[in-house]
Amino acid sequence: MKVIVTDEISEKGLELLHNDQRVELDVRLGLSKAELYEVIGGYDAIITRSGTQVDAELLSHAKQLKMVARAGVGIDNVDVQAASERGIIVVNAPFGNTNSAAEHTMAILLSLCRNVPEANASLKGGKWLRAPFTGYELKNKTLGLIGLGKVGGRVALRARSFEMDVLVYDPYISEKRAADFGTRLVELDELVRSADVLTVHTPLNEETRDMVTATHFAAMKQGVLIVNCARGGIINEAAMLAALESGKVAGAAFDVWSEEPPQDETIKQLIAHPHMVVTPHLGANTFEAQTNVAIDVSREILNLL
Ligand code: MLT
Repeated sequence: MKVIVTDEISEKGLELLHNDQRVELDVRLGLSKAELYEVIGGYDAIITRSGTQVDAELLSHAKQLKMVARAGVGIDNVDVQAASERGIIVVNAPFGNTNSAAEHTMAILLSLCRNVPEANASLKGGKWLRAPFTGYELKNKTLGLIGLGKVGGRVALRARSFEMDVLVYDPYISEKRAADFGTRLVELDELVRSADVLTVHTPLNEETRDMVTATHFAAMKQGVLIVNCARGGIINEAAMLAALESGKVAGAAFDVWSEEPPQDETIKQLIAHPHMVVTPHLGANTFEAQTNVAIDVSREILNLL
């Protein structure tokens, strides 16, 4: 079986495939769309992360493909319907990197609250300034958490350990699940009105795209903080920029963007904004998580064999 890897995947996790005589593994990073269209016809399986768009056009060139293996949770970069129509199985790795994403959410939130990026740059630049970097505590603040799934649940537990009150909006969970996490289930409107910090932990789909809009920003508390370590586009980026510029939002921490890498002007302005802490989609980027998800998808490919 010929398997192509098109995004950076942990070598340690791919050992299972390397060690199996039946598998021929090609790691081909940085291929252009045209190059991928040209070579994909020769492969039985493709392993990707979020960097490769497995769309209908790519699949139309994939004459012998049997499996799309997504080394991560989100399958928003895979046209599942087009794959299914061709009898191609789509698998993901729904568990291996969720802790990593939850920890990164806390990392960027705390960096935002305590001005870590600016203070770091200032001290490295030879200055000794303290007052400009006075920050905010999380203790006794209200976290508005949208999506109490595998990542959201872990974020809720971590927020509780910081003595935050956690309100949850998630139409797919029971009050009991929310209570088990020490949180309270509310409607989106109440969450938006009450949150000191708002964070999203949903997949990106038709239900969640632009879930947080200008109308929601208008209803928020003055000086609210916003976090997106889930998927770009869940929070409308133009509305986010306007809310930062008006001062309604005191700061935001984003790891993900509706276009990656970003070319769009609005996203570029968001990234450059002085009140934004930004990272380039690093939520799942820990050695532990990358090994976990690579093992998970490698097992799926061996199961297929
Ligand atoms: C995920 O969906 O699990 C992550 O975004 C994966 C990635 O970093 O590519």
